This record gives sequence, structure tokens and C-alpha cells, in this order.
Amino acid sequence: MAKKKILISDNLSEEGKLILEESGLFEVDIRKKTPREEILSIIGDYDGLIIRSATKADEELIDKAKKLKVIIRAGVGVDNINIPACSQKGIVVMNAPAGNSISTAEHAIALLFSLVRKIPAADQSMKSGQWEKNLFNGNQLTGKTIGVIGLGRIGKEVVKRALGLQMNVLGYDPYIGKEHLEHLQIDIVSKNDILKNADIITVHTPLTDQTKGIVSKKNIKNLKKGVFLINAARGGIYEEDAIVDGIEKGIIAGAALDVFSKEPLVEGSKLRNYANVILTPHLGASTDEAQTEVAKESAQSMVQFFKEGIARNSLNFPTIDPADMSILTPWFELSEKMGALSSQILDSTPKSVTLEMEGPIVQRSLKPLEYAFLKGYFQAILGDEVNLVNAPGYAQERGLVLNIITKKSSATESTMKLDIEGNQPLQIKATVNLSDPLVIEINQRPVQFRPEGNFLFIQNKDVPRVVGELGNMLGNAGINIAELRLLRDEKGGTAMTFISTDEPVTEEMITEISARDFILNARIIKL
Ligand code: NAD
Ligand code: MLT
Repeated sequence: MAKKKILISDNLSEEGKLILEESGLFEVDIRKKTPREEILSIIGDYDGLIIRSATKADEELIDKAKKLKVIIRAGVGVDNINIPACSQKGIVVMNAPAGNSISTAEHAIALLFSLVRKIPAADQSMKSGQWEKNLFNGNQLTGKTIGVIGLGRIGKEVVKRALGLQMNVLGYDPYIGKEHLEHLQIDIVSKNDILKNADIITVHTPLTDQTKGIVSKKNIKNLKKGVFLINAARGGIYEEDAIVDGIEKGIIAGAALDVFSKEPLVEGSKLRNYANVILTPHLGASTDEAQTEVAKESAQSMVQFFKEGIARNSLNFPTIDPADMSILTPWFELSEKMGALSSQILDSTPKSVTLEMEGPIVQRSLKPLEYAFLKGYFQAILGDEVNLVNAPGYAQERGLVLNIITKKSSATESTMKLDIEGNQPLQIKATVNLSDPLVIEINQRPVQFRPEGNFLFIQNKDVPRVVGELGNMLGNAGINIAELRLLRDEKGGTAMTFISTDEPVTEEMITEISARDFILNARIIKL
């Protein structure tokens, strides 16, 4: 198999490159500090891209990335990646979120000590030959109240360290249920409580519409006088103008910032003017340990993606537990086939489709089956531009809602039942038999066939002649019938006829078949 081409366009520790090379799957190209124009001119050749924060995977880059299947961010924040554009092009986006949490939490604590003990200013003074002992009186941390906004990986590590320093800790994170935060043994309060009562505020959230301007020009008057602010998360969570304003007005006693609205921080930024504003150039994750970890995590994810099809820590595709993978693989195939089969039977896209799962399979995480169904459904209509990542986007555009539901039962055999209501109702039940998909019921009539190969699907009046005439027409065209199934609703009513053929039926034949008076609908199905 030809090796996949991987581009690493930012700094990545050597350990990551080694994992990629040792897998034997990749040709790895490292282009650190390469001008953007050059990256844009070569990105079309690569299957995978690993970046940190310097490379901007924006719409322009993604548009030129003709072969790209995956972008991995060696770190947490994905604000330099246009995820909707990636999803539309079917590019999986993953991050490596765990490796740098401790280092970043430690950096926040380092900023905290530097701030309250004025260490950078004292150091500068000493190096300029001074001994200004009276100038650098600081504050003690024990007993002070720290407000931690965002209690994810890094926030929790900061909480542990603050408790170790015997501080009172207030926490705020509306997206985590209180019961999951109990073990932290801190007071979970509102954001306003933190703004009003904390001596120190530290933020550990992504930058979102909700977190942008948590401290702003509008609300600095609500802060406790003499508060210290720390930001090792993302620039913009505190408005930079508000920090300057708060320092000038004496509301903010000091701020320590590792991240900025625009990076690198502009040369003339007023933030550079204050001794009680400590600035570091986005160093939270810059330790040997964190960089080794994120590089290893990113490289392992790349290997797993191309080797096993697992997208670990993906931001636009469901993450599959590797333990579920071997069990779910034939169900992906089945789900994809169900999508392809139903879209080729139906005249138009329905508003909703239900997949009812029954039996032991319901113990597994079934979300990925949704992606597989939609891929099969839309690929059969729109072709290879549809893949697992962008298929939900096609469904959304076309107003199709897919629900996967589970049925409680004592069934020992797992099944998937597709149910479509509306003007063209359709029910298909299927299972996995010895790792192969098997359709076992259509519109509540028992059948048994592998959804694979060429089919002629007919809806016809239940009259004599049907099988004979169809057989003749196919025979005259040199098309061999492998199997034939007739499913009628009632004697003299209508029927569905599934004919699997060794050779594909042509469009000309469909025209000829459709001209028969007993044919209501005839179409080619390719599975
Ligand atoms: P995480 O996803 O584990 O935690 C983020 C937490 O923020 C989540 O628990 C989420 O519920 C919470 N949150 C989201 N919106 C919120 C809101 N409006 N109010 C309160 N809480 C909210 O992420 P993490 O790994 O802890 O990283 C946190 C931040 O730190 C990210 O922005 C990341 O990019 C940044 N980071 C910076 C550096 C650095 O070098 N300075 C290094 C690593 C991570
Ligand atoms: C992150 O989000 O992981 C950080 O910004 C660290 C980095 O990669 O520099």
C-alpha cells in the first residue's frame, strides 16, 4: 500500500515523528517556520496534517487541501482550524487535549506567584543593579479566595494546586453537573459571585461567545477592589482594554496573561506598560514534558486513524471506543448499506428516518452508526464527495433527521430496523450474520439477502406474467438473475420485486421495463 503523506507544519517533538515513522504507514515531511504561501502551494499533496497554533487551517488552506483526510492539533485549542469547512470537505479534525493540562495548570500557578510576589519586576530591578526591598512588598496566598472559571482538565488541576496552597476556592462551570464536581470539595457558585468575591480570578475555558469578555469594560466595576487576574486559556476572555482600564482605576491590582486577542501581542499594546501586568508569550504548554506528550498523543492518533479508522478526540466525528470497534465494524457496514438501499428505493428524501436497534448491540455506543447510515444514504445519490464526516451536513441541508433508538428486549440476536413514515413508507429489518450484513425483512415480509451487488427493484401490480416477462427481458439482454424475491401486499394488490443480478441492469432496460402495463416503478439499486 502506498504510504500516506503527512505534513508537520509547526514545532512537534521528535517523539511524535518517531511514532509516525515506526508505524511504516507514512512519509513524514517536517516544514517548521515555512512561509504560509509555501504551505498553501504544497498542502494539496498531503493526506494528513499535524499543527500547533502557528499554522492557520482556514478556509483558504482547506480549499487547497485536495487529498487531506485529517488535521491533528497537537494541543487543546482548535481556534486556528475552521472546523465547519473541514466537516464540509470531509476532513476529520482531532486534538491532543490531555498532554499539556498539567503544564498549563502549573503555568497559571507560576503566574499567580509571580503576580502577588512581584517577582519579574524585582528580578528586573536587581539586574539593573538595584536593591529595592521596600518596593516589592507582596501578598500571601493562604486564606485568599481564588475563583476558577472553567473546571475542565486544566481548571481541575488548578483547583487541586490552589487547595494545596490553602486558598478558598470558588468554581464556576455551567456545563458540568454539580454532582460531577463534588469530589473537588470547593464551592460551586455563579459567575457573578466569582466576579464580586474573588481576590484572584483565573479562567480555563475556551473562547466562546459566552466566555468572551468575562471581564469587560462594562463589568469591571463589579469586581472586588484589588483583584488579580490570570489568563492562561485564550486571549479575549478578559477584554484587554478593560484590564488597562481596571489597572488605571485601581480596581485591578495586577494581571498575568499568557494569551492575547491577537498573537503575537502587538508591539504598542498598552499592556506592556505596567509593572503589575505580567506577560508571557503563550507558554502554558511549553515544557519538554507537555510537548513530548502532545506529540506522542497526536502521532498515535494519526496512526490509529489510518490503521483502524478510529478518530480519537475528534471534534467533528464521534469518537469510538477501541473496545467497541471490532463489534461495531460490521454494523457500520450494515448501517451504510441500509442508507444506500433506502435512498435508492425512495423517490425523495424523507423528513425523518428511525433506526431501531434491538438486542445485545444496544450496549454499545451507537452514534457512529448514524454517520454510516447518512454516508450510505447520500453517497448513493451524490457520489464519492460524501463521506462519514460531511454526511451529517448533507442531511441537515436536505432536512433529513435521523434518530437511532434502542428497544429493550430479551432478544439474543441483534437487529437494526429502519422505519420511514410518510407518503412512501418503508421498513427494512436487518442483522449481522457471521460478520456479514443480512436483510431479513422488508415491509414486514420475511426475506434473506446480503445487501451487496446489483439489484433491480420493481414495484408492480400483482398479476400473472410479471416473473416470466421480466425473466425474458433480462435474459434477452444477457443479464443473469442470481435471486428473485416477490413481496406482495395482498393477492391482486401490489408487490415489490427484488431481483439480484450478476450484471448491472442498464438505464435503457429500465425504460423498457417501465413501459410494461404492470410496472409501477422500476429502478436500479447498487449496493
Ligand atoms: P476542557 O475542555 O477540559 O475544559 C474547558 C472547560 O470550560 C469545560 O469544562 C467547559 O465546560 C468549560 N466552559 C465552557 N464554557 C464555559 C463558560 N461559558 N463558563 C464557564 N465554563 C465554561 O479544556 P482544557 O484542556 O481545560 O483547556 C482550557 C483552555 O485552556 C482552552 O481554551 C485551551 O485552549 C487553553 N489552553 C491554553 C494553553 C496555553 O498554552 N496557555 C495550553 C492548553 C490549553
Ligand atoms: C493549547 O490550546 O493546547 C495551547 O494553546 C498550547 C499550544 O499548543 O501552544
